[in-house]
Amino acid sequence: MSSSSSCINIVLVTVALLTVSGSHADRLSSSFYDESCPGLTDLVLTAVAQAQLSDPRMPASIVRLHFHDCFVDGCDGSVLLDDSEMIVSEKGATPNKNSARGFDVIDDIKSQVESVCPGVVSCADILALAAEASVFLSGGPSWDVPLGRRDGTTANKDGANKNLPTPLDTLDVLQSKFSAVGLDDIDLVALSGAHTFGRAQCKTFSSRLYNYSGTLSPDPSLDPSYLALLEENCPQGEIGTTLNNLDPTTPDAFDNNYYYNLQNGQGLLQTDQELYADTSSPLASIIDRYASDDGSLFFEHFAVSMINMGSISPLTGSDGEVRFDCRKINAG
Ligand code: HEM
Repeated sequence: MSSSSSCINIVLVTVALLTVSGSHADRLSSSFYDESCPGLTDLVLTAVAQAQLSDPRMPASIVRLHFHDCFVDGCDGSVLLDDSEMIVSEKGATPNKNSARGFDVIDDIKSQVESVCPGVVSCADILALAAEASVFLSGGPSWDVPLGRRDGTTANKDGANKNLPTPLDTLDVLQSKFSAVGLDDIDLVALSGAHTFGRAQCKTFSSRLYNYSGTLSPDPSLDPSYLALLEENCPQGEIGTTLNNLDPTTPDAFDNNYYYNLQNGQGLLQTDQELYADTSSPLASIIDRYASDDGSLFFEHFAVSMINMGSISPLTGSDGEVRFDCRKINAG
Protein backbone atom coordinates (compact mmCIF):
# COMPACT_ATOMS: atom_id res chain seq x y z
CA MET A 1 0.00 0.00 0.00
CA SER A 2 1.39 3.44 -0.91
CA SER A 3 1.85 6.00 1.82
CA SER A 4 -0.80 8.25 0.25
CA SER A 5 -3.43 5.49 0.25
CA SER A 6 -2.64 4.54 3.87
CA CYS A 7 -2.99 8.20 4.75
CA ILE A 8 -6.45 8.26 3.10
CA ASN A 9 -7.36 5.13 5.07
CA ILE A 10 -6.41 6.77 8.34
CA VAL A 11 -8.57 9.78 7.46
CA LEU A 12 -11.51 7.52 6.56
CA VAL A 13 -11.20 5.56 9.81
CA THR A 14 -11.04 8.79 11.78
CA VAL A 15 -14.14 10.12 10.04
CA ALA A 16 -15.94 6.83 10.72
CA LEU A 17 -15.01 6.95 14.40
CA LEU A 18 -16.18 10.53 14.71
CA THR A 19 -19.50 9.58 13.11
CA VAL A 20 -20.23 6.73 15.51
CA SER A 21 -18.90 8.44 18.63
CA GLY A 22 -21.98 10.68 18.71
CA SER A 23 -24.15 7.66 19.48
CA HIS A 24 -24.45 6.55 23.10
CA ALA A 25 -24.09 2.83 22.36
CA ASP A 26 -20.68 3.40 20.89
CA ARG A 27 -19.38 5.01 24.05
CA LEU A 28 -19.86 1.65 25.76
CA SER A 29 -17.88 -1.51 25.06
CA SER A 30 -18.35 -5.13 26.07
CA SER A 31 -14.59 -5.37 26.72
CA PHE A 32 -14.58 -2.38 29.10
CA TYR A 33 -13.62 -4.43 32.20
CA ASP A 34 -11.55 -7.10 30.42
CA GLU A 35 -8.40 -5.92 32.16
CA SER A 36 -9.71 -4.14 35.25
CA CYS A 37 -12.16 -6.87 36.33
CA PRO A 38 -11.69 -10.01 34.21
CA GLY A 39 -14.02 -12.37 36.12
CA LEU A 40 -16.92 -9.93 36.25
CA THR A 41 -19.38 -11.58 33.84
CA ASP A 42 -18.96 -15.03 35.42
CA LEU A 43 -19.31 -13.63 38.91
CA VAL A 44 -22.59 -11.92 38.01
CA LEU A 45 -23.90 -15.04 36.25
CA THR A 46 -23.13 -17.23 39.27
CA ALA A 47 -24.73 -14.80 41.70
CA VAL A 48 -27.92 -14.49 39.64
CA ALA A 49 -28.08 -18.30 39.28
CA GLN A 50 -27.92 -18.59 43.08
CA ALA A 51 -30.62 -15.98 43.55
CA GLN A 52 -32.81 -17.79 41.01
CA LEU A 53 -32.46 -21.05 42.95
CA SER A 54 -33.93 -19.52 46.07
CA ASP A 55 -36.47 -17.35 44.23
CA PRO A 56 -37.55 -18.37 40.71
CA ARG A 57 -39.15 -14.97 40.17
CA MET A 58 -35.92 -13.04 40.80
CA PRO A 59 -34.60 -13.01 37.19
CA ALA A 60 -37.80 -11.28 36.04
CA SER A 61 -37.55 -8.75 38.86
CA ILE A 62 -33.96 -7.90 37.91
CA VAL A 63 -34.81 -7.38 34.23
CA ARG A 64 -37.58 -5.00 35.24
CA LEU A 65 -35.22 -3.10 37.54
CA HIS A 66 -32.83 -2.47 34.64
CA PHE A 67 -35.76 -1.17 32.55
CA HIS A 68 -36.88 1.12 35.38
CA ASP A 69 -33.31 2.39 35.72
CA CYS A 70 -32.83 3.15 32.02
CA PHE A 71 -36.13 4.97 31.41
CA VAL A 72 -35.37 7.55 34.09
CA ASP A 73 -32.44 9.81 33.15
CA GLY A 74 -30.69 6.91 31.43
CA CYS A 75 -29.04 3.76 32.78
CA ASP A 76 -27.20 5.37 35.67
CA GLY A 77 -28.16 3.16 38.61
CA SER A 78 -30.50 5.90 39.90
CA VAL A 79 -33.28 3.40 40.69
CA LEU A 80 -30.98 1.75 43.23
CA LEU A 81 -30.51 4.85 45.41
CA ASP A 82 -32.26 4.95 48.79
CA ASP A 83 -33.81 8.06 50.33
CA SER A 84 -31.23 10.23 52.08
CA GLU A 85 -30.64 13.90 52.86
CA MET A 86 -29.60 14.48 49.27
CA ILE A 87 -31.74 11.90 47.48
CA VAL A 88 -35.49 11.52 46.98
CA SER A 89 -35.54 7.87 45.99
CA GLU A 90 -37.20 6.61 42.81
CA LYS A 91 -38.24 3.62 44.92
CA GLY A 92 -41.12 5.77 46.23
CA ALA A 93 -42.48 6.48 42.72
CA THR A 94 -45.78 4.78 41.85
CA PRO A 95 -44.40 2.18 39.38
CA ASN A 96 -41.74 1.10 41.90
CA LYS A 97 -43.41 1.38 45.31
CA ASN A 98 -44.27 -2.04 46.78
CA SER A 99 -43.41 -3.43 43.38
CA ALA A 100 -39.78 -3.09 42.24
CA ARG A 101 -37.60 -5.79 43.78
CA GLY A 102 -34.17 -7.36 43.46
CA PHE A 103 -32.23 -4.63 45.29
CA ASP A 104 -30.69 -7.11 47.76
CA VAL A 105 -29.39 -9.28 44.93
CA ILE A 106 -27.72 -6.26 43.29
CA ASP A 107 -26.20 -5.30 46.68
CA ASP A 108 -24.87 -8.82 47.10
CA ILE A 109 -23.31 -8.83 43.62
CA LYS A 110 -21.83 -5.38 44.22
CA SER A 111 -20.14 -6.48 47.45
CA GLN A 112 -18.70 -9.56 45.77
CA VAL A 113 -17.43 -7.40 42.89
CA GLU A 114 -15.94 -4.85 45.33
CA SER A 115 -13.97 -7.62 47.03
CA VAL A 116 -12.25 -8.62 43.77
CA CYS A 117 -12.12 -5.32 41.83
CA PRO A 118 -12.59 -2.48 44.33
CA GLY A 119 -13.91 0.84 43.04
CA VAL A 120 -13.97 -0.24 39.41
CA VAL A 121 -17.42 -1.51 38.35
CA SER A 122 -20.48 0.75 38.40
CA CYS A 123 -23.83 -0.31 39.83
CA ALA A 124 -25.46 0.60 36.50
CA ASP A 125 -23.21 -1.91 34.70
CA ILE A 126 -23.84 -4.59 37.34
CA LEU A 127 -27.58 -4.14 36.76
CA ALA A 128 -27.18 -4.40 32.96
CA LEU A 129 -25.07 -7.57 33.32
CA ALA A 130 -27.48 -9.07 35.86
CA ALA A 131 -30.40 -8.44 33.48
CA GLU A 132 -28.63 -10.28 30.66
CA ALA A 133 -27.75 -13.19 33.00
CA SER A 134 -31.39 -13.29 34.17
CA VAL A 135 -32.71 -13.69 30.64
CA PHE A 136 -30.11 -16.29 29.70
CA LEU A 137 -30.62 -18.36 32.88
CA SER A 138 -34.36 -18.44 32.19
CA GLY A 139 -33.87 -19.96 28.73
CA GLY A 140 -33.65 -16.74 26.71
CA PRO A 141 -30.94 -15.30 24.51
CA SER A 142 -27.46 -14.29 25.55
CA TRP A 143 -25.68 -11.16 24.29
CA ASP A 144 -22.48 -9.21 24.89
CA VAL A 145 -23.47 -6.41 27.24
CA PRO A 146 -21.95 -3.03 26.31
CA LEU A 147 -20.25 -1.71 29.47
CA GLY A 148 -18.61 1.41 30.81
CA ARG A 149 -21.62 3.20 32.30
CA ARG A 150 -20.93 5.33 35.37
CA ASP A 151 -23.33 5.85 38.25
CA GLY A 152 -25.40 8.98 38.61
CA THR A 153 -25.32 11.15 41.70
CA THR A 154 -29.00 12.09 41.52
CA ALA A 155 -32.37 10.34 41.50
CA ASN A 156 -35.52 11.56 39.78
CA LYS A 157 -38.72 10.40 41.46
CA ASP A 158 -40.89 12.73 39.35
CA GLY A 159 -39.17 11.39 36.24
CA ALA A 160 -39.98 7.83 37.33
CA ASN A 161 -43.65 8.77 37.70
CA LYS A 162 -43.67 10.54 34.36
CA ASN A 163 -41.46 8.42 32.08
CA LEU A 164 -42.31 4.87 33.10
CA PRO A 165 -45.30 3.37 31.32
CA THR A 166 -48.37 2.54 33.39
CA PRO A 167 -50.56 -0.51 32.71
CA LEU A 168 -53.46 1.70 31.62
CA ASP A 169 -51.51 3.80 29.12
CA THR A 170 -52.97 3.95 25.62
CA LEU A 171 -50.89 2.69 22.73
CA ASP A 172 -50.12 6.28 21.69
CA VAL A 173 -48.77 7.07 25.14
CA LEU A 174 -46.69 3.87 25.22
CA GLN A 175 -45.22 4.73 21.83
CA SER A 176 -44.41 8.27 22.90
CA LYS A 177 -42.79 7.15 26.17
CA PHE A 178 -40.59 4.75 24.22
CA SER A 179 -39.76 7.21 21.46
CA ALA A 180 -38.85 9.83 24.09
CA VAL A 181 -35.88 7.58 24.99
CA GLY A 182 -35.05 6.72 21.38
CA LEU A 183 -36.86 3.37 21.20
CA ASP A 184 -39.11 2.46 18.27
CA ASP A 185 -42.08 0.12 17.70
CA ILE A 186 -39.90 -2.95 17.31
CA ASP A 187 -38.24 -2.15 20.65
CA LEU A 188 -41.68 -1.67 22.22
CA VAL A 189 -43.00 -5.02 20.99
CA ALA A 190 -39.76 -6.92 21.63
CA LEU A 191 -39.14 -5.48 25.11
CA SER A 192 -42.77 -6.05 26.13
CA GLY A 193 -41.94 -9.71 25.53
CA ALA A 194 -40.15 -9.54 28.91
CA HIS A 195 -43.68 -10.12 30.23
CA THR A 196 -43.04 -13.75 29.32
CA PHE A 197 -41.91 -14.19 32.92
CA GLY A 198 -42.53 -12.71 36.34
CA ARG A 199 -45.67 -11.63 38.18
CA ALA A 200 -48.14 -8.78 38.34
CA GLN A 201 -50.40 -7.78 41.23
CA CYS A 202 -54.18 -7.95 40.70
CA LYS A 203 -54.53 -4.18 41.07
CA THR A 204 -52.48 -3.62 37.90
CA PHE A 205 -55.16 -5.20 35.69
CA SER A 206 -58.32 -5.69 37.81
CA SER A 207 -60.21 -2.90 36.01
CA ARG A 208 -60.10 -5.20 32.96
CA LEU A 209 -62.02 -7.84 34.90
CA TYR A 210 -64.79 -5.75 36.41
CA ASN A 211 -64.94 -2.27 34.93
CA TYR A 212 -63.16 -1.92 31.66
CA SER A 213 -62.97 1.76 30.64
CA GLY A 214 -65.89 2.61 32.91
CA THR A 215 -68.24 0.05 31.26
CA LEU A 216 -68.84 -1.97 34.47
CA SER A 217 -68.08 -5.01 32.28
CA PRO A 218 -64.95 -7.02 31.51
CA ASP A 219 -62.55 -6.08 28.73
CA PRO A 220 -64.11 -7.75 25.65
CA SER A 221 -60.66 -8.61 24.29
CA LEU A 222 -60.02 -11.01 27.23
CA ASP A 223 -60.30 -14.70 26.40
CA PRO A 224 -63.31 -15.98 28.47
CA SER A 225 -61.48 -18.88 30.12
CA TYR A 226 -58.57 -16.62 31.01
CA LEU A 227 -61.02 -14.05 32.38
CA ALA A 228 -62.55 -16.73 34.63
CA LEU A 229 -59.12 -17.75 35.92
CA LEU A 230 -58.17 -14.15 36.68
CA GLU A 231 -61.51 -13.42 38.39
CA GLU A 232 -60.94 -16.40 40.64
CA ASN A 233 -57.47 -15.19 41.59
CA CYS A 234 -58.48 -11.53 41.92
CA PRO A 235 -61.97 -11.33 43.48
CA GLN A 236 -63.73 -7.99 43.07
CA GLY A 237 -63.25 -5.62 46.00
CA GLU A 238 -60.04 -7.15 47.36
CA ILE A 239 -56.99 -4.95 47.92
CA GLY A 240 -55.27 -6.36 44.88
CA THR A 241 -51.77 -7.33 45.93
CA THR A 242 -52.19 -11.01 45.01
CA LEU A 243 -49.63 -12.06 42.43
CA ASN A 244 -50.46 -13.50 39.01
CA ASN A 245 -48.18 -15.00 36.43
CA LEU A 246 -47.66 -12.62 33.53
CA ASP A 247 -47.45 -15.68 31.28
CA PRO A 248 -50.00 -18.33 32.35
CA THR A 249 -48.32 -21.01 30.22
CA THR A 250 -44.64 -21.00 31.29
CA PRO A 251 -44.43 -18.46 34.14
CA ASP A 252 -40.69 -18.56 34.83
CA ALA A 253 -39.34 -19.38 31.38
CA PHE A 254 -38.10 -16.80 28.92
CA ASP A 255 -39.73 -17.89 25.66
CA ASN A 256 -42.03 -16.48 22.95
CA ASN A 257 -45.28 -17.67 24.57
CA TYR A 258 -46.12 -14.04 25.43
CA TYR A 259 -46.90 -13.48 21.75
CA TYR A 260 -49.12 -16.58 21.47
CA ASN A 261 -50.92 -15.30 24.53
CA LEU A 262 -51.60 -11.96 22.83
CA GLN A 263 -52.95 -13.75 19.75
CA ASN A 264 -55.28 -15.69 22.07
CA GLY A 265 -56.60 -12.79 24.17
CA GLN A 266 -54.41 -13.85 27.07
CA GLY A 267 -52.26 -10.78 27.55
CA LEU A 268 -52.40 -9.94 31.26
CA LEU A 269 -52.02 -6.16 31.29
CA GLN A 270 -54.22 -3.89 29.23
CA THR A 271 -51.02 -2.47 27.70
CA ASP A 272 -49.96 -5.98 26.64
CA GLN A 273 -53.21 -6.75 24.84
CA GLU A 274 -53.34 -3.26 23.30
CA LEU A 275 -50.29 -4.11 21.21
CA TYR A 276 -52.47 -6.64 19.35
CA ALA A 277 -55.73 -4.66 19.38
CA ASP A 278 -55.59 -3.92 15.65
CA THR A 279 -54.65 -7.22 14.05
CA SER A 280 -53.81 -5.52 10.77
CA SER A 281 -51.39 -3.03 12.34
CA PRO A 282 -47.59 -3.08 11.92
CA LEU A 283 -47.32 -3.97 15.63
CA ALA A 284 -49.58 -7.01 15.19
CA SER A 285 -47.52 -8.18 12.24
CA ILE A 286 -44.36 -8.08 14.40
CA ILE A 287 -46.24 -10.07 17.06
CA ASP A 288 -47.38 -12.64 14.48
CA ARG A 289 -43.80 -13.04 13.31
CA TYR A 290 -42.50 -13.50 16.88
CA ALA A 291 -45.18 -16.12 17.53
CA SER A 292 -44.65 -17.98 14.28
CA ASP A 293 -41.30 -19.68 14.93
CA ASP A 294 -39.49 -21.32 17.84
CA GLY A 295 -38.69 -17.92 19.30
CA SER A 296 -35.50 -17.26 17.36
CA LEU A 297 -36.64 -13.99 15.78
CA PHE A 298 -37.96 -12.69 19.11
CA PHE A 299 -34.71 -13.68 20.84
CA GLU A 300 -32.65 -11.93 18.21
CA HIS A 301 -34.70 -8.72 18.40
CA PHE A 302 -34.96 -8.83 22.20
CA ALA A 303 -31.17 -8.91 22.54
CA VAL A 304 -30.79 -5.93 20.18
CA SER A 305 -33.55 -4.00 21.95
CA MET A 306 -32.02 -4.67 25.37
CA ILE A 307 -28.75 -3.23 24.05
CA ASN A 308 -30.70 -0.22 22.72
CA MET A 309 -32.46 0.24 26.06
CA GLY A 310 -29.20 -0.30 27.97
CA SER A 311 -27.61 2.47 25.92
CA ILE A 312 -30.06 5.21 26.92
CA SER A 313 -28.03 8.29 27.96
CA PRO A 314 -25.20 6.55 29.79
CA LEU A 315 -22.76 8.57 31.87
CA THR A 316 -19.26 7.76 30.66
CA GLY A 317 -15.66 8.96 31.01
CA SER A 318 -15.35 11.16 34.06
CA ASP A 319 -19.08 11.95 34.35
CA GLY A 320 -20.84 10.57 37.43
CA GLU A 321 -18.94 8.15 39.66
CA VAL A 322 -18.45 4.49 40.49
CA ARG A 323 -20.51 4.10 43.63
CA PHE A 324 -19.08 2.03 46.48
CA ASP A 325 -22.55 1.20 47.73
CA CYS A 326 -25.35 1.01 45.14
CA ARG A 327 -27.83 2.49 47.63
CA LYS A 328 -26.00 5.78 48.17
CA ILE A 329 -23.89 8.30 46.32
CA ASN A 330 -20.25 8.41 47.42
CA ALA A 331 -20.60 11.90 48.91
CA GLY A 332 -23.57 10.98 51.04
C1 HEM B 1 -44.63 -1.43 27.70
C2 HEM B 1 -44.95 -0.91 28.86
C3 HEM B 1 -44.87 -1.65 30.15
C4 HEM B 1 -45.79 -1.57 31.15
C5 HEM B 1 -47.05 -0.74 31.16
C6 HEM B 1 -45.35 -2.45 32.19
C7 HEM B 1 -46.00 -2.62 33.39
C8 HEM B 1 -45.70 -3.61 34.29
C9 HEM B 1 -46.48 -3.88 35.49
C10 HEM B 1 -47.69 -3.08 35.94
C11 HEM B 1 -45.92 -4.96 36.08
C12 HEM B 1 -46.41 -5.62 37.38
C13 HEM B 1 -45.87 -4.88 38.59
C14 HEM B 1 -46.51 -5.29 39.88
O1 HEM B 1 -47.62 -5.83 39.86
O2 HEM B 1 -45.92 -5.06 40.96
C15 HEM B 1 -44.81 -5.37 35.30
C16 HEM B 1 -44.00 -6.44 35.58
C17 HEM B 1 -42.88 -6.77 34.85
N1 HEM B 1 -42.36 -6.04 33.80
FE1 HEM B 1 -43.28 -4.59 32.78
N2 HEM B 1 -44.18 -3.03 31.83
C18 HEM B 1 -43.83 -2.57 30.58
C19 HEM B 1 -42.69 -2.86 29.88
C20 HEM B 1 -41.69 -3.68 30.36
C21 HEM B 1 -40.37 -3.78 29.80
C22 HEM B 1 -39.87 -2.93 28.65
C23 HEM B 1 -39.69 -4.72 30.53
C24 HEM B 1 -38.28 -5.19 30.40
C25 HEM B 1 -37.56 -5.13 29.32
C26 HEM B 1 -40.61 -5.21 31.53
C27 HEM B 1 -40.35 -6.22 32.42
C28 HEM B 1 -41.22 -6.66 33.38
C29 HEM B 1 -41.02 -7.87 34.15
C30 HEM B 1 -39.92 -8.89 33.92
C31 HEM B 1 -42.05 -7.92 35.10
C32 HEM B 1 -42.23 -8.95 36.22
C33 HEM B 1 -41.41 -8.46 37.42
C34 HEM B 1 -41.48 -9.33 38.66
O3 HEM B 1 -42.05 -10.39 38.67
O4 HEM B 1 -40.91 -8.87 39.69
N3 HEM B 1 -41.78 -4.53 31.43
N4 HEM B 1 -44.69 -4.52 34.23
